[in-house]
Amino acid sequence: MRMFLVLIMTPLAALALDLTDRQRADIEARIQPFSSVCVQGDACGGGEAVAESAGRSGEDVYNNACMACHSAGIAGAPAVGDQLAWAGRISKGMDALYDSGINGVAGTGMIAMGGCVDCSDDDIRAAVDFMVDSSR
Ligand code: HEC
Repeated sequence: MRMFLVLIMTPLAALALDLTDRQRADIEARIQPFSSVCVQGDACGGGEAVAESAGRSGEDVYNNACMACHSAGIAGAPAVGDQLAWAGRISKGMDALYDSGINGVAGTGMIAMGGCVDCSDDDIRAAVDFMVDSSR
């Protein structure tokens, strides 16, 4: 661990020669989350979360954020795979279903994004595609 920190700090010290104290403080503050306890195999800084959300399939999003209600049909949620429960919803068109996924359905347990705080609109659309494809 000590060796690792030395490796990180050395290029920083070399760089620091040409910087004002204020610039150096800025850089140190910026790299701090990565340099502090970032060893191989650890989830470091914010890098991991970005990579994760970029590579998520609709099924991944569904499993993480939607399945709790939509696998068994909790609280009136249409269960994935239940063609009867979905037929009427699918007939509204995909845009309406995306809108429900992203903005929620007012007055029901379907809250915006299904409550997924780190989902993008595209993540939600992919999850809706997965749910609909599995329920036709
Ligand atoms: C806390 C429970 C809950 C979670 C979590 C949840 N839903 Fe729902 N969802 C519901 C309920 C309840 C309904 C039925 C709402 C209604 O009465 O139309 C619903 C309905 C829907 C519909 C159909 C809406 C329509 O217009 O017919 C879609 C699409 C949907 N959910 C997508 C998602 C997606 C995508 C996620 C995950 C990102 C998710 N839901 C997570 C409870 C949930």
